[in-house]
Amino acid sequence: MCSTGQNFAGPGRRGHLTGVMNFLHVVGARPNFMKVAPVLAQLRKDPRVRQVLVHTGQHYDPRMSDVFFQDLGMPAPDAHLGAGSGSHAQQTAKILVEVEPVILREEPDVVVVAGDVNSTMAVALVAAKLGVAVAHIEAGLRSWDWRMPEEVNRVLTDRMSELLFTPSRDADQNLAKEGIDPNRVHFVGNVMIDSLHAALPRARESRIHEQLGVRKGEYALATLHRPSNVDEPAALERLLVALAEVSGRIPVVFPVHPRTRARLSLDATLRAKAESARGLKLADPIGYLDFLALTANARLVMTDSGGIQEETTALGVPCLTVRHNTERPVTVEVGSNTLVGTDPAQVVPAAVAVLEGRGKKGRVPDLWDGRAAERIAHILVRFCEERGR
Ligand code: UD1
Repeated sequence: MCSTGQNFAGPGRRGHLTGVMNFLHVVGARPNFMKVAPVLAQLRKDPRVRQVLVHTGQHYDPRMSDVFFQDLGMPAPDAHLGAGSGSHAQQTAKILVEVEPVILREEPDVVVVAGDVNSTMAVALVAAKLGVAVAHIEAGLRSWDWRMPEEVNRVLTDRMSELLFTPSRDADQNLAKEGIDPNRVHFVGNVMIDSLHAALPRARESRIHEQLGVRKGEYALATLHRPSNVDEPAALERLLVALAEVSGRIPVVFPVHPRTRARLSLDATLRAKAESARGLKLADPIGYLDFLALTANARLVMTDSGGIQEETTALGVPCLTVRHNTERPVTVEVGSNTLVGTDPAQVVPAAVAVLEGRGKKGRVPDLWDGRAAERIAHILVRFCEERGR
C-alpha cells in the first residue's frame, strides 16, 4: 500500500497483497478528458498496473462528454456517479457522497485528479480524508482571483495532494510560495499537449469546415463560458457586441457552451443580438477532433477558456483571451496568447491587429512536447514502489 503516511490506514490494501499498483482516475467535466486520456494510455502499458476510471457525471450531455471518449480513444468509465448540474454545494456534495464508497471498494494506491473543476476538488477531498494519496495533474496554476470557482478548486486540491504535476515553471514557483514541499512537486510539462499531438493527424481529416461553411485560415473561432462573462446579461452583451464587430470583418465560428446557451435562452434581446449578427455562426458544442481542426486552422481565436489558451500556444495560433487575468501566464509570456479584457473597445482593435497580420505566433513552452504522460506515469509508479507496496 502507498498511503499518505497519515495515522489511519486507508485503502490500498489490495495492492499490498498482490503486488499490483492500483490507480483510480477521475474525469468529470469536458476539460478533464484530454488530460486523463494520455495518462491512462501510458499506464496501461505496465502489466503491474490496475486502473479504474470514474466519471463523476458533472458534464453529461453527449457533446460535452461521450464524444470525447470516442475522439480520445478512452475506455468507458468503470463507475459513473451521475452528479449532474446544480449549485456548487449541490454538485460538490453529490460527488463527495457518491465517490466515497467507490474509493473504499476499489482500494486505490493513488487517486489521480486533473485540472480545476468541481469534480477535481471533491474527489481529492474524499481521498485525502480516507488517507489515500492524491496526485494532481496540472497543479500550481494560479489566477490570484479568488472569485473564480476554479481558483478555489486549484488551491484546495494542491493542498490535499501528495504528488503535484506542474505544466510550467511558474506553477512550481506558486507552490513554493504557498509552502508546498518541493519534493512533492514534479515539473512534467503539459499533458493536454500529449492529446493534441496524438490527435492532430486524425483532426486533419475532419469535415467540420465544410459542415460549418468556412474556409481554412479564413475565419475566427470564439468560445465563452466563464460565469463572470456569461452569467450577467450586461457582461455577455458586451462580449456579443465585440464578437459581432469582428464577425463583420471575418466569419466567426462560435460553439455555444450549455451555460452560455442557457443564458441566451433566458434573454430574448441577447439571443436576437447573437442570432442576427452577420458572420457570427452559432454552433452546438463541438467534439475534440473537430474543435482541434477548427483551432489549428483559425486566423484568430477569442476565448475565456483555460485549455484553449494552451492549445493555441502549442499550435502557434494567435489567441485573444477575454479575461482580466490568466492562471496560464506562460501562454502570454512565451506563447501566442494576449490578455485583452472584456471591453469591446480593447477586444475589437486587438482582433483587427491579428487580422492585419500583427498577431503573436510565440513559441512552445518547455516540456510541452507530447511526453508529459510518460513522465507522470513514471513518477506514479516510482512513488508506489518507494512507498513499499
Ligand atoms: C465547468 C467548470 C469549468 C470548466 C467548464 C468547461 C467548475 C466549477 N467549472 O464549468 O472550470 O471550464 O466546466 O466546460 O467545475 N450543462 C449542461 N450540460 C452539461 C453540463 C452542463 O447543460 O453536460 C449546463 C447546466 O445548465 C449547468 C451549467 O451548464 O448548470 C454549468 O455546468 P457546470 O458543470 O456547473 O459548470 P460549467 O460552466 O460547465
